[in-house]
Amino acid sequence: MKIRVDGENNTKKTTMLCGFVLEDSDKILGLNKIDSKIIPLIKQSINDMGGIFGKIVIIPIASKTTSQRILLAGLGKKEKFNNDTIRFVSGKIAQKARELKLKEFTIVAPPSSIIESISSVSQIVEGCKMSLYKFEKYKSKKENNIPDLTILVSKSDKISKAIKIASIISDGVLYTKDIANLPPNECIPSTLANFSRNISKKNNMKCNVISKKDLLKKGFGGIIAVGQGSKNEPKLIALEYNGGTKNEKPIVLVGKAVTFDTGGISLKPGEKMDEMKFDKCGGCTVIGIMKAVSELKLPINLVGIIPSVENMPSGESYRPGDIIKLYNGKTAEILNTDAEGRIILADALSFGEKQYSPKAIIDFATLTGACIIALGTNVAGMISNNDKLTQKIKESSKRTTEEVWELPLNDDYMDMIKSDVADMKNVGIGRAAGTITAAAFLRNAIRDTPWVHIDIAGVAWTQVATKDKPYNPKGATGFGVRLILDYLQNI
Ligand code: BES
Ligand code: MN
Ligand code: ZN
Repeated sequence: MKIRVDGENNTKKTTMLCGFVLEDSDKILGLNKIDSKIIPLIKQSINDMGGIFGKIVIIPIASKTTSQRILLAGLGKKEKFNNDTIRFVSGKIAQKARELKLKEFTIVAPPSSIIESISSVSQIVEGCKMSLYKFEKYKSKKENNIPDLTILVSKSDKISKAIKIASIISDGVLYTKDIANLPPNECIPSTLANFSRNISKKNNMKCNVISKKDLLKKGFGGIIAVGQGSKNEPKLIALEYNGGTKNEKPIVLVGKAVTFDTGGISLKPGEKMDEMKFDKCGGCTVIGIMKAVSELKLPINLVGIIPSVENMPSGESYRPGDIIKLYNGKTAEILNTDAEGRIILADALSFGEKQYSPKAIIDFATLTGACIIALGTNVAGMISNNDKLTQKIKESSKRTTEEVWELPLNDDYMDMIKSDVADMKNVGIGRAAGTITAAAFLRNAIRDTPWVHIDIAGVAWTQVATKDKPYNPKGATGFGVRLILDYLQNI
């Protein structure tokens, strides 16, 4: 999608001129110069649609002095604005343009008295780019046509920069969606390793992939155990981006990448098991973030660690009852082979802390079904050992509207994963606080580094209860990419 900016008054060189309308208002925001002959027509349509949030109305125009169509997009009440309003409605506009098979369309940015222009332009770009995504790799006939976008707003370097940044961020999200949507026969741990190598070459990063032989040698007992049931060997991927000063400690991102989670010997029921192709979403989010950060050339040091396995039942699988030794030397009793994410993450977290002495660690994982029970499918769970870091992520969450909700982790929860025969067990007590006991297992993998865990089980892909958003068409959502890019841009 090509994106360009035009001065505010250029309203006729487009097949569709799109503008925002507030609820109960009588004008198109930001549109000052318009052919007086068509004003009554527009006024009537605005009055009819009432500026209701998300409502779209198209007016065909015969007059030669303006565009062929005018699209009115309702924003709802000004008091109900949040940091997603323009993104959401822009997405609706873009999808309308695609439906009409247009080659291009134009959006009039609202004036800065209504919303600050950097924010509105960024949201317009993100909303349009993300909403025109379709996963068509396996369709014989590709149908997605992506129209170009012109934004009418007064030109400035700041605006051009904002568009560029929003564009890179959106591409990061789309890249994450693209790899997360891949079917499990086409995306195994080595595939993710190859994607990581590719983006590292293009964007000047280091990429180190640890294969099975070395995982064994180096004592990654968790990744080895979970991965041993599959003929597709496990990989531990580490992407390093160095944009900061040499001595500055990095931030480490860790993402669960189970390319398919059958549950292993503790086999999952068949219903919806196909959705477990999305059990790699945490890792895909980290890869998308690394790609975007390197393109944004942020002045930070950042490491992305992706433990990747396929959790399969076979004669070689790990079993309930096994006791394994994790990378940090602690032992874990396996009571359920379907609680595999915490095991591979524990190895990756310990490795990240030991290898990089980071100033913070943030992990993403489709870790627990319990998180969906607790928070549903629009809000991610967040658990941490550090209030300052948590606060920062909450602020980014407010700005990006990728929602997170903090859950507690005190010593009573830590006690719930104590084992009779090993240092810990890989499940808690019954189903009580399932999201927190999973995090308690992770907590044991790090010493004292500030750490935030984000459970994306409910939000990583669209499920039955997922709120409909134009920029989240069916499939992987790329949740977390915008959230963490905001955090990284603001440290
Ligand atoms: N990947 C699943 C969690 C999951 C399930 C995410 C459904 C999204 C939708 C994870 O590996 C898992 O199976 N967790 C178990 C843990 C249990 C055995 C303690 C779960 O949540 O049922
Ligand atoms: Mn599982
Ligand atoms: Zn899993």
